[in-house]
Amino acid sequence: MKEKVLNALKSVLYPGFSRDIVSFGIIKKIEVRSGIASIDAEITTENNQIVETLKKSIPAAAKSVNGIIDVNLNFTVHSPSKEEEENKNLAPNIKHIIATTSGKGGVGKSTVSSNLAIALAKKFNVGLLDADIYGPNIPTMVGIEGHPVSVNQEKKIVPIEVYNLKVVSIGNMVPKDKAIIWRGSLIHRAIQQLLSDVEWGELDFLIVDLPPGTGDAQLTLAQSVPISASIIVTTPQEVAMSDAIKAVDMFRSLKVPIAGVIENMSYFLCPHCGKRSDIFSSGGGKNLSKHFDIPLLGEIPINLAIREGADAGKPIAATSKDTIFNQIADKLVEAIEENNGNDI
Ligand SMILES: Nc1ncnc2c1ncn2[C@@H]1O[C@H](COP(=O)(O)OP(=O)(O)OP(=O)(O)O)[C@@H](O)[C@H]1O
Ligand SMILES: [Mg+2]
Repeated sequence: MKEKVLNALKSVLYPGFSRDIVSFGIIKKIEVRSGIASIDAEITTENNQIVETLKKSIPAAAKSVNGIIDVNLNFTVHSPSKEEEENKNLAPNIKHIIATTSGKGGVGKSTVSSNLAIALAKKFNVGLLDADIYGPNIPTMVGIEGHPVSVNQEKKIVPIEVYNLKVVSIGNMVPKDKAIIWRGSLIHRAIQQLLSDVEWGELDFLIVDLPPGTGDAQLTLAQSVPISASIIVTTPQEVAMSDAIKAVDMFRSLKVPIAGVIENMSYFLCPHCGKRSDIFSSGGGKNLSKHFDIPLLGEIPINLAIREGADAGKPIAATSKDTIFNQIADKLVEAIEENNGNDI
């Protein structure tokens, strides 16, 4: 019976995430006597809404098991202690961690991450961490595919230096074309190691390119280091927008500041006649920015040179002097300085 209740609880998702509460370790104990399930659950959060949702969904799931007539839920809520907050910084030599994410895949996160990192590296010490462990594209985009990774005397991974950036990607550590099955706990460990077991040195900014969606990588990052700013990349069409809303919601519930939204593949300027076409519709980024009251950091057009640069490992931010990524980088620095109340 206990097993059946546990299985039923595996269908309850942690609010805002695609992962269930059992694998999160929230359920501490289950006992069943005379049809009454006693469940001990424990959670560390400051978000009351998550607590209220779980107080309803846990008993409901347990009661769905045949033979369970009532549920006693003993729910303990801890707020993260100061010590835990301080301990969570696995990368204390990095001043500002910036996370690039999106609701939907293929909207241009890695393109934005690599170009933005290069634009920032013209003025600051910058690292680029490819946290897309499912499909690491950064090595291709910055031209370091197949470059081996070395380890120093302290057994720390040494980042590969290119375009004035320090780059680390799982793509340089596992054979290309090899599919890795990532379980939640493995993702957690891999991302923590990419933060703490790398010789990042002193950095002003570390740009973290995340996989799409609201999953384990996002959660682990937010729990392991303080994130100064997150950037939500979207394309203008309806399906991308509704997924972007979930990403906004996730970061808000994790209390991660959102620096702004970038609308990519905004429009197409015909190189022959100069006419603008809104291929994927228009105004989505603006609407998202208005709706959630978050800044619109930029609208990036569909541009052949952006795609060619990415495929060739020569991002346009490195090969052209004046690109939209310089403007986005300036806006981002401003947003972070404003949020922090001092200069970087
Ligand atoms: N503004 C743009 N103009 C032209 N091509 C673009 C633009 N932005 C991205 N692309 C191209 O679109 C493709 C997808 O971009 P990218 O890999 O950056 O997306 P992603 O969101 O990181 O994808 P994934 O979810 O798979 O990680 C790439 O081939 C990239 O070169
Ligand atoms: Mg990507």
